[in-house]
Amino acid sequence: RVRGRAPAPLYGLQVSQDPFGLVVCRQRGGTVLLNTTVAPLIFTDQFLQISTSLPSHFISGLGERLTPLFLDTAWSRVTLWNRDMAPAPHVNLYGSHPFYLVMEDDGSAHGVFLLNSNAMDVLLQPSPALTWRTTGGILDFYIFLGPDPKSVVRQYLDVVGFPFMPPYWGLGFHLCRWGYSSTHITRQVVANMTAARFPLDAQWNDLDYADARRDFTFDRNRFGDYPEMVRDFHSRGLRYIMIVDAGISSSGPPGTYRPYDEGLRRGVCVWGAPGAPVWPGPTAFPDFTNPRTHEWWHDMVKEFHDRVPFDGMWLDMNEPSNFVEGSQDGCPNNNLEHPPYVPGVFGGRLQAGTICASSQQFLSSHYNLHSLYGLSEAIASHRSAWGSCTRPFIISRSTFAGHGRYAGHWTGDVGSDWEQLYYSIPEVLLFNLFGVPLVGADICGFAGSTSEELCVRWTQLGAFYPFMRNHNDHGTRPQEPYSFSPAAQAAMRSALHLRYSLLPFLYTLFHRAHAAGETVARPLFLEFPTDPNTWAVDRQLLWGGGLLVTPVLEAGQTKVRGYFPAGTWYSLAGVGAPAVLLPAPHRSPGADSTIHSKGQWILLPAPLDTINVHVRAGHILPLQEPAFSTAQSRSKAMALLVALTPDGFARGELFWDDGESWESFERGDYTEILFLASNVSSDGELAHLDGVLLQAVTVLGVTSPPQRVLANGAIVRDFSYRSDTQVLRVPVSLPMWEQFVISWS
Ligand code: NOJ
Repeated sequence: RVRGRAPAPLYGLQVSQDPFGLVVCRQRGGTVLLNTTVAPLIFTDQFLQISTSLPSHFISGLGERLTPLFLDTAWSRVTLWNRDMAPAPHVNLYGSHPFYLVMEDDGSAHGVFLLNSNAMDVLLQPSPALTWRTTGGILDFYIFLGPDPKSVVRQYLDVVGFPFMPPYWGLGFHLCRWGYSSTHITRQVVANMTAARFPLDAQWNDLDYADARRDFTFDRNRFGDYPEMVRDFHSRGLRYIMIVDAGISSSGPPGTYRPYDEGLRRGVCVWGAPGAPVWPGPTAFPDFTNPRTHEWWHDMVKEFHDRVPFDGMWLDMNEPSNFVEGSQDGCPNNNLEHPPYVPGVFGGRLQAGTICASSQQFLSSHYNLHSLYGLSEAIASHRSAWGSCTRPFIISRSTFAGHGRYAGHWTGDVGSDWEQLYYSIPEVLLFNLFGVPLVGADICGFAGSTSEELCVRWTQLGAFYPFMRNHNDHGTRPQEPYSFSPAAQAAMRSALHLRYSLLPFLYTLFHRAHAAGETVARPLFLEFPTDPNTWAVDRQLLWGGGLLVTPVLEAGQTKVRGYFPAGTWYSLAGVGAPAVLLPAPHRSPGADSTIHSKGQWILLPAPLDTINVHVRAGHILPLQEPAFSTAQSRSKAMALLVALTPDGFARGELFWDDGESWESFERGDYTEILFLASNVSSDGELAHLDGVLLQAVTVLGVTSPPQRVLANGAIVRDFSYRSDTQVLRVPVSLPMWEQFVISWS
């Protein structure tokens, strides 16, 4: 049955009865996007299979995997079933996103989402074709017609939800390690960061803080002054985040551990999965599909917050992860534990690394709900928001389609090696396509010891992860920025300053994601879909449409090749801007040329202290003087970087609010400014920018020397212009809370 046909659809649809199948094609051009008549449909209780032809080999999506941006269609298999698994190629990882995007030959794109949470395989075949093979549920498909790839992503997010708006401080630098084993050591880490003059917005603790590794407790010996430590951090403008594991310790005598006693009393646990040992020994797993669990969780989180005023939650081990298979007593012998078809899950059985598939949850069996565990925990945590009236900041390991509406993601236990450094780019880009823009990998790598060079390069790339955290395993070489040589520290400091300078731009991109379903870190093909050379580029990334990042991803290299789509690209290193724009160490000789590309690969100088960042002509970026935390930087002077097209056009915007109130956009409590080429214009009240001054405007691509520069009609005498670089610099001192016009002739 086909219902609700649009009046002028972009698609044509044929339903064939024998063999049964659907064919969906584009009305214009006739490209067949989906043809399920290519193989028989199988629809049984525990085995559903449907195949389709694909119009091209360029298929992306289907996470979470350690994979290039575009998938291999030469008989490859993607298995979805959330799993605690150190990222390695070809295995199912922490999240499930049964959504793909295909680039068609003419640069159009379409997407397909199968809303199904059961364990599944997706088989990619060279014809090209794709087979969905799932172990339950129904076939609930959404097809997104684009026709451009950005629209495909937005249409997908129309279904699963637009991303939540993170607090401003959440975009600063985060530092963590498993092994900060006391408040003394944690305080020392912060002191070392300050002494070494590194920005830091959030200090984290791993499970070291907890008493016997139990959630919502803290160790009275090593963390005796834990609440005071967090308050001290607050008084310096720092935020604090701690880990929360999914398993609730169940082994203590009654009356000794309130979260478990209370959970038992309120009946909030997954039934049939007792005695699964994780960190604290035997544990029970809360069932977040039960509304009662949300109330219990809210109470536990809030009670803990009343004692320890943390600012964000780090949800770990929520696949859910289990150190025995199923439970200590094994699993029942039934058809959910042993389905007729087991997808290619790591460990070969559904129970491997998790709880029994036939455990009962409020909504259904764990067999049906397993991959929704992290999402349901993120929803409960987001809603609880620890009883505060500021925006929740939640980072979760396990994810499912729609996760970005509630929380962000870090990519788990990545190894400290160059290969994982590269893979972090497609991971970050894919999660942006999945609607989870707040994403990043553990900078310098988590497992194993990093090297100084790797850590410098990783910090440079990490400065462009939407979520920037350095986190390290216990027992490995320290990798806090201050633990390296002065030269390495200088390079890291410069990358961090660059990020902090760009935060107003990054925050505005998050607003666009939240309000309009856009991506923050963006693959090139989303901006340049008609240039097929961009499609597979996954060693570079864009921020929005205007900033191209070309990191070094290999050891011992001081040059890097990057693809530059047709147009003009201004090197940030070459701007030679005032301190408010870019700190001096970022500039390096030789990296300063403007690129006029016809759509080509270009070899760029990339000494160890440099990451190549280019501004695309036509964009205006709002910047702010960096500081040691966003608490300080938010009131510093702003600057505009105006990158003109050859015909003198550029556009940009700034979204600004108090940086942390709930739903400030929805309540209209914000300021949005539109910047246009030589005109700077704005709408509405600019009250949120009270006290913030615009201090500099740097215009790139000014072809002839200006004779006269005016700011709000007044002559600016001390502007400077260099005809070799075509850079015009206009120092100003204009209130950002009033409209202003800067012009030159
Ligand atoms: C696994 C997490 O992925 C890792 O980041 C964390 O450090 C350990 N659990 C210990 O909590």
